[in-house]
Amino acid sequence: MQFCDRQFILDTFNFRHACKHFDKGRKVSAEDFAVILEAGRLSPSSFGFEPWSFLVVENRQLKDKLWNAAWGAQNSFKGASHFVILLARKKIDTVYDAAYIKDIMKNVQNLPEAVIEQRLSAFENFQRKDFNLLESERAIFDWASKQTYIALADMLTAAAALGIDSCPIEGFDQKEVDQILSAEGVMDKAHFGVSVMAGFGYRMAEPHSKTRRKTEDVVKWIE
Ligand SMILES: Cc1cc2nc3c(=O)[nH]c(=O)nc-3n(C[C@H](O)[C@H](O)[C@H](O)COP(=O)(O)O)c2cc1C
Repeated sequence: MQFCDRQFILDTFNFRHACKHFDKGRKVSAEDFAVILEAGRLSPSSFGFEPWSFLVVENRQLKDKLWNAAWGAQNSFKGASHFVILLARKKIDTVYDAAYIKDIMKNVQNLPEAVIEQRLSAFENFQRKDFNLLESERAIFDWASKQTYIALADMLTAAAALGIDSCPIEGFDQKEVDQILSAEGVMDKAHFGVSVMAGFGYRMAEPHSKTRRKTEDVVKWIE
């Protein structure tokens, strides 16, 4: 089954740009924004553990509190229709024997006990040996954080396919934002940390033309 033609896909990726000036007079409809969130929720993740949570920040006071710490988000705070903070789960939830992991296997993936045991042992091997994720809290948090970037990309692309602009945001002080979100009671610091953010809305003006390295400089075919 083919859902759209090739040109639509390329047009979508060419339309998407990191929007610096959002039109604050235009709001993304609830229906369109629900599709963007659904694109994030349906995103793939390593072993299917979905180590994320998406905060949709509507609250102006919270945006004001984040203003200095999230310097890269200021354009979005000024004009974006919707603002999302993607949180990543910490080791307490993502280590191979965590209650969260077992709960996902049992209650989300609906796996039988015997399969869960087998998979947990393979997962331990993956974390301990293949990816060396157990060496530090940071290593395993960054692994979860990598998964959230897949959800981020899917949200940006879904938005672009709907003619909605976006800006991915890494311009923030992680520690400070963690503190603000946890002090506000919207993030449990024991289980989550901030990973990345994104603004969604509509462009004020046409962006500069895209700059990218040439295909032959980034793709190597091995025959
Ligand atoms: C993970 C990530 C973080 C980014 N952080 C910011 C940011 O904090 N503020 C900003 O204005 N742009 C940010 N950008 C946008 C990039 O600068 C932009 O995507 C890049 O220059 C390519 O341009 P284009 O997206 O318009 O094609 C970020 C992009 C990515 C993928």
